[in-house]
Amino acid sequence: MRDVAVIGIGLTKFGELWDKSFRQLITEAGAKAILDSGISGEEIDAMYIGSMSSGRFVGQEHIGALVAEASGFSHLHIPSTRVEGACASGGLAVRQGYLSIASGMNDIVVVGGIEKMNDVSGTAATGTLATAADQEWESFFGVTFPGLYAMIARRHMHEYGTTKEQLAQVAVKNHKNGALNPNAQYRREITLEQAINATMVAEPLGLLDCSPVTDGAASIVLCAAEKAKKYTDKPIKIIGSGQGSDTLALHSRRDICTLDATVHAAKMAYKQANVTPKDIDLAEVHDCFTIAEICAIEDLGFVKKGEGGKAIENNITTLDGQIPINTSGGLKTKGHPVGATGVAQIVEIVEQLRGEADKRQVKDAKIGLAHNVGGSGATAVIHILEAM
Ligand code: COA
Repeated sequence: MRDVAVIGIGLTKFGELWDKSFRQLITEAGAKAILDSGISGEEIDAMYIGSMSSGRFVGQEHIGALVAEASGFSHLHIPSTRVEGACASGGLAVRQGYLSIASGMNDIVVVGGIEKMNDVSGTAATGTLATAADQEWESFFGVTFPGLYAMIARRHMHEYGTTKEQLAQVAVKNHKNGALNPNAQYRREITLEQAINATMVAEPLGLLDCSPVTDGAASIVLCAAEKAKKYTDKPIKIIGSGQGSDTLALHSRRDICTLDATVHAAKMAYKQANVTPKDIDLAEVHDCFTIAEICAIEDLGFVKKGEGGKAIENNITTLDGQIPINTSGGLKTKGHPVGATGVAQIVEIVEQLRGEADKRQVKDAKIGLAHNVGGSGATAVIHILEAM
């Protein structure tokens, strides 16, 4: 296996982007990443694009080739592949790009992630997202993702005494971080009272416990580490990559408060990187709902099982805390264009490790972790990165 580094990053603004098409969004992110890396189109060996449901959101499938064409590369006939794993599609695309270089097959790979979710109604978006749950045992009976994560939250409250205030504190922290992120969907702070009293979506999760419906795209350029310094002074090495799967249906799990796919993926990534959770300086975790962030920091080993709520309450995860979590604002505030999210998480970690995160900069950040989840935890993918 060869070492792999990130040499370029690009992100569009996240939000309700009525004035931009699917093609415009992915090419904007890709062009930014390619310019940032200094590579030329001729040097690209392959492209991997994460998108969960472009067919249902914008009526367009076959987006591997479409993205190559929209980027102006069709005459180069670059192998371009779409990768799908629900909300983990972006993270999986990163992993496919990483594996293709680590194996020796490719030297330079462009990875993209995109979702344009606001071209359909809110009801249609919810229905499309629900296709990532178990159709026969969950969606058929009317449960949607807010409902599934609400069940996790209820169980977590029952088992560990987690409170609605602690859930709300996750939202308050992420809105505070998102307010500092120029690309975030919601650049405003919220109070604890607003979070607690927000319109109920699925008891106990209110509007401000949920990630929104978002348009956006992200891209990174990956390169064999031995060649990375040719392009940039600040290559960021991927030192660990892990992936895990689990049952689609939540009720089939051993314990609905633990995402075993995350635990498994984390074990793989930590082992490869030869680090422990204590070595991680910051993490972007998959906070599609506030309870998901609490479960994630437990499953990633930053705190003991059941102590996630207390950790939030004790400000361990704030920008200047012991382990800053979701410095970008997370899915909650930066937004969650599902196929783009896993790639956008890497963009944030790379900015932090390069020391370019401006007001969100974590002091002395050397090792960062990105954690991307599909569905209610049936897929998890984790990358650990370090400045070279
Ligand atoms: N956080 C903060 N504010 C939000 C928000 C969120 N998640 N979602 C919507 N808003 C705001 C909007 O900006 C809008 O504000 P305005 O009136 O000042 O313009 C207001 O709330 C109403 O927005 P609207 O788009 O009508 O909300 P909605 O009721 O249609 O949708 C949710 C709200 C929470 C149901 C929707 O965002 C949702 O389904 N989120 C979960 C997405 C999901 O499941 N992702 C996959 C995870 S696995």
